[in-house]
Amino acid sequence: MNGYPLSDFLKARPEVERLKAYSAPLEGRRNLLRLDFNENTIGPSPKVVEAIRSFPADHIAIYPEYDGLREALIANLSSSPAGLTSALTPAHVGVFNGVDAAIHAVLQAYGASGDTLLTTSPTFGYYAPCAGMQGMVIEAVPHELPGFVFPLEEIRTALLRTPRILMLCNPNNPTGTRLAADQVLELARQAQETLVVVDELYEAFTGDSVLPSVDFEAFPNLLVLRSLAKTAGLAGLRIGFALGHPDLVDRVGRVTGPYDVNILAVTAAMEALKDQDYTNSYVREVLRARNWIVSEMTHMRIKHHVDGGNYLLVWPRRSVEAVEAELRAAGILVRSMSGKPQINGSLRISIGTTEQMQRFWKAYVAIDSEL
Ligand SMILES: Cc1ncc(COP(=O)(O)O)c(C=O)c1O
Repeated sequence: MNGYPLSDFLKARPEVERLKAYSAPLEGRRNLLRLDFNENTIGPSPKVVEAIRSFPADHIAIYPEYDGLREALIANLSSSPAGLTSALTPAHVGVFNGVDAAIHAVLQAYGASGDTLLTTSPTFGYYAPCAGMQGMVIEAVPHELPGFVFPLEEIRTALLRTPRILMLCNPNNPTGTRLAADQVLELARQAQETLVVVDELYEAFTGDSVLPSVDFEAFPNLLVLRSLAKTAGLAGLRIGFALGHPDLVDRVGRVTGPYDVNILAVTAAMEALKDQDYTNSYVREVLRARNWIVSEMTHMRIKHHVDGGNYLLVWPRRSVEAVEAELRAAGILVRSMSGKPQINGSLRISIGTTEQMQRFWKAYVAIDSEL
């Protein structure tokens, strides 16, 4: 049968034609020790699980309601030991289908074709495709070696060219690079014509957040991203937040659908935000496990790098592919950093509980057999 000449019609915008679908090795991970996506490795608070189990069936048929969620986040942040210097209102908080969706929305709302996204390299892999689909130009400044130090002077110089957006991952995934909160604020003050987005997904593990000290009236160009995925264990439900000046949050919200965040995610988030003790105790356990694994690696002179976040980098003596595959065969997932600038040849290991890290370490030592 002669078909229509659809091929040209099927082509998307040129920016989309240049993209590759973002792919992460997400399948077949159940029942394994998952040290590959920096997720919470033990699951959410029992109160979250109970709220989902007892969720009324008829409410599934209703579009979600978001009343009280923004207030619950603000109450949670205000009651943290660091607190908040200036009061936040619900208008300061945007709710998204994970921080990924927030990143997408920010770039959709603010990134026009030809605008520059300034960031560091290597960094979280989803910034580039979101910028790419807008036709933005990406300027990625390498971290300073040794130690993957934040390239402060180079970023300052690049800001003089007024990029549209500066994306800071703090601490940076995957190098753990940390930037003190007052340095973030200083960059935002310097670059008042640039939108400064701080992705604080892993701040709970290191405490460099700008939220306790920022007044968004004084920093209307600053947007802070937070998620319940990595600490509270809600990665599978997808919920994230963007905090900033109400005018900024309003604009980022304009490019999302009215019901993009589902009602189970909202229900779970409300419970997780109320049960901060559970999250705190998980974070404390991860930090204990981190100390343990780092001291083992140091003791055995294994090349590694650790800084902020619930992850570290390790350079196996054998090939990364072989070690990754053999760990998988032993039931343990880690993430190869092959092909990434500066860290090619390393594995990123997420940090779970001490018991989980002991299991990982036993397998790793046996597999990287020259030890
Ligand atoms: C730095 C960073 N930002 C954002 C995300 C996405 O977070 P979420 O699960 O809330 O979409 C991740 C997930 O790995 C991440 O590492």
